[in-house]
Amino acid sequence: MLTVKTIAGARAAVARLRVERHCIGLVPTMGALHEGHLSLVRAAKAACDAVVATIFVNPTQFAPGEDFSTYPRRFEADCALLEAEGVDVVFAPEAAEMYPAGASTIVEVEEISDRLDGLSRPGHPRGVATVVAKLFNIVQPDKAFFGQKDAAQVAVLRHMVRDQNYNLELVVCPTVRETDGLAMSSRNHYLSADERRSALVLSRTLRHIEARIAAGVVESAPLIDAGLAVLAEEPEIRLDYLRIVDPETLEDVADVSAGALVAVAAAVGPARLIDNVLIPPR
Ligand code: PAF
Repeated sequence: MLTVKTIAGARAAVARLRVERHCIGLVPTMGALHEGHLSLVRAAKAACDAVVATIFVNPTQFAPGEDFSTYPRRFEADCALLEAEGVDVVFAPEAAEMYPAGASTIVEVEEISDRLDGLSRPGHPRGVATVVAKLFNIVQPDKAFFGQKDAAQVAVLRHMVRDQNYNLELVVCPTVRETDGLAMSSRNHYLSADERRSALVLSRTLRHIEARIAAGVVESAPLIDAGLAVLAEEPEIRLDYLRIVDPETLEDVADVSAGALVAVAAAVGPARLIDNVLIPPR
């Protein structure tokens, strides 16, 4: 596995891969890798001839006061995991390489960026779109792999790929969970044992809503009420949102018959956690 830190190095490494490999897969990450990330790498390995992973804690997607400085950084351990999965190239730039002095171009996906996480984290979707656009331009992958856990990110990036005519397939992989249901996240490391127990209310809420839908409830309002009742079992969590939306536009839907995304976000102790389930059309 080759590790490169510069854009020129990444381009040269990809050019060498291109000589013999037809399909190049990109797995963008911020490191602190867990099984969720590794599932993306495995999907990329299965679907592509070569895999480029990136490790970059992107400063532009963190607002002032968020956890940029404390975000877990485990470069050596991450590289060992990626090497064991058979990744071909790791691109791990410094911030100055990605955003040299004077860099002033941003990628803004309008409207959709103001929904779900974008409402409480304004600037976050823009930071994600900007860095992912840069990674797409540097690596020029045939397929790029993202986790369904960040459903708002997926919706924003789908719009960006479509609107900007990126010549690649965006592949979205299912959320990977701990055995007790907690969605895997690098931010789970922030949780104390008690907070971790409280955090389980997020997946419990989603399962409860799924069960209500299976029992025949299709209107969003009673489904949200049912979910809020479960969330109230853990008063120490600070709910950001529980919404039922169209997975493509992130706009609220009145019922789930045509398919929907049930998404929840809450702060638990020092961690802001997100989770969601996709409800298939009836
Ligand atoms: O999902 C993440 O880890 C990040 O938002 C991403 C896509 C790597 C961009 O920094």
